[in-house]
Amino acid sequence: MTTIRPLSDALTGTSVDIPHGETLVSVDGLALRFGGNTAVDDVSFDVGRGELFAIIGPNGAGKTSIFNCLSGVYRPQEGELSFLGRSLLGERPDDIARLGISRMFQNIELFDNLTVLDNLMLGRHQHLEYGTLAGMAYLGKAKRIEVINRRIVEDIIDFLEIESVRKFPVGMLPYGVKKRVELGRAMAMEPKLLLLDEPVAGMNVEETEDMARFILDIREELDLTMILVEHDMGLVMDLADRVMVLDFGVKIALDRPSEVQQDPNVIKAYLGEGDEGPTLEDAAAAAEAHVSQEVRR
Ligand SMILES: Nc1ncnc2c1ncn2[C@@H]1O[C@H](COP(=O)(O)OP(=O)(O)OP(=O)(O)O)[C@@H](O)[C@H]1O
Ligand SMILES: [Mg+2]
Repeated sequence: MTTIRPLSDALTGTSVDIPHGETLVSVDGLALRFGGNTAVDDVSFDVGRGELFAIIGPNGAGKTSIFNCLSGVYRPQEGELSFLGRSLLGERPDDIARLGISRMFQNIELFDNLTVLDNLMLGRHQHLEYGTLAGMAYLGKAKRIEVINRRIVEDIIDFLEIESVRKFPVGMLPYGVKKRVELGRAMAMEPKLLLLDEPVAGMNVEETEDMARFILDIREELDLTMILVEHDMGLVMDLADRVMVLDFGVKIALDRPSEVQQDPNVIKAYLGEGDEGPTLEDAAAAAEAHVSQEVRR
């Protein structure tokens, strides 16, 4: 670890004064439809403070749609979503971000022409406590805040081991590094909840291992609550405390990883219907092979 000081000293906003295990996120009876297509169908779950909660399911199962509801991008037709006891329904994405929910996107959403440093500084935007006028009137304060923001961003850069590319435009970077910058941008917002949408999709083994290590380190150092959407079963089963499985928008399982892996409904969802079913072990292995193929796609 090359970090000069613990990341938790820099990202103080991530600490939440509620005990471990207490509900941070509560989703109840969530339904989201696009015309006749039901993307999310009566889904309920809670995520406890400090938990690493995974959502898995075949393509189109509704995983990203749940993230879009939680971050205010889509407004569900039914159900309730709350964060720290406060309803998120009707809140705008930037207000939700300010409440402490930040997100790493399935498709990288960075500014290719800006440097790594500038992309992360934009992530700090939520924390700039001055507007343009106030900034002009109180240059001293604005400058102090800018210095703090800059220091936080530099700490994140150290933590993610991307010092050598900090002045590079993001567009020039290899895919695995871009994904790391995306993680950094989400962290720069000092979230209390981090939503990770397929953080290792398209990565090779080494890049995947690096990302897994960063996720674990973030958890250890910042004690951050995370919801992880991922097709890489190895990663999910290794990292998650609990796993929710969606199929065609419906929750078909929610349990500890070891239980979910053995669940016949889950195995069926990944393999499709069949009378002469394989053994559970065969099915689990096939499911894993299927998803790692998805990742390499
Ligand atoms: N903006 C949209 N307009 C219409 N249909 C949508 C929209 N967004 C999602 N859907 C549909 O909702 C369903 C769930 O999509 P979603 O992106 O949530 O799946 P996912 O589980 O994230 O899949 P993947 O693993 O492929 O990322 C799909 O049938 C999808 O086509
Ligand atoms: Mg998705």
